[in-house]
Amino acid sequence: MHAREKYLPASTWTIGSRSPVKQHNSWRHLLRRPAESDAIAMRRLVAETGVLDVNSTYAYLLMATDFAETSIVADRDGEICGLITGYHPPTRPEVLFVWQVAVARATRGTGLAATMLDTLVHRVRRNRHGHPVTVEATVSPGNSASRALFGSFARRHGVPMVEQPCFTAAQLDPNNGHEDEPILSIGPLTAPLTD
Ligand SMILES: CC(C)(COP(=O)(O)OP(=O)(O)OC[C@H]1O[C@@H](n2cnc3c(N)ncnc32)[C@H](O)[C@@H]1OP(=O)(O)O)[C@@H](O)C(=O)NCCC(=O)NCCS
Repeated sequence: MHAREKYLPASTWTIGSRSPVKQHNSWRHLLRRPAESDAIAMRRLVAETGVLDVNSTYAYLLMATDFAETSIVADRDGEICGLITGYHPPTRPEVLFVWQVAVARATRGTGLAATMLDTLVHRVRRNRHGHPVTVEATVSPGNSASRALFGSFARRHGVPMVEQPCFTAAQLDPNNGHEDEPILSIGPLTAPLTD
C-alpha cells in the first residue's frame, strides 16, 4: 500500500478567499491512492453527486488498480469523501486526463477538490521526473462548480486554460439527455518541483 501523499509546499497556494494553507493542512493527511476495497464507495460517492455519470463498480475497480497512480481519494476515518479518477492517454503521456471529480455534499466548499487536484498533479509530475504535464477534462457548459474548480487551478498555477469542442450531446445520448462535453486543456505546468 502506498503511503499518504507528501505535502505540497505552502507557496503553491497563492490566491483564494479561504485560508488556503489551513485548508491544505487539514486535508492533506486524508489523501491517498485508491485501493480495490474503495471501488464500491467510489461508485457510491459518484452516484450521490446526482450529476456525474455513474459507471460500473468494475470501472472503479480498474481506476483503483491499473489507474491508481493517476487517481486519488480522500479517506476520512474510513469514509471516502472525495475522489479524482484520471489516466494518461496512451498516445499523450504528458497529459493527465481527469475523468471524474466528486466531493461529498457536506464537505464541499472547503478546498478538498482543489487540494486533491493539486496533490494529484504534483504526484504525476514527480512520477514524470518533473516533466511538464497538461491537465485535460471535459466539462459540460452547465457545470459551474467544475468550471470554477479548473479555472481556479489554472489561475493558481499561472497557466492558460483553453476550451475546445469534444464529445457532443448526440454522441453521449441520442435522446438528448446529455449536454455537450467540451474539453478544457490547462497547462502545460512547467514550474520546477521543489520537493
Ligand atoms: C465540483 C466539485 C468537485 C467541487 O468540490 P469542492 O471541494 O467543493 O471544491 P473546492 O472547495 O476545492 O473549490 C475549488 C474552486 O471552485 C470554486 N467552486 C466550488 N464549488 C463551486 C460552486 N458550486 N460554484 C462556484 N464556484 C465553486 C471554489 O470557490 C474554488 O475556487 P477558488 O479557489 O477560486 O476559491 C463538487 O462541487 C462536486 O463534487 N460536484 C458534483 C460533481 C461534479 O460536478 N464534478 C465535476 C465534474 S468531473
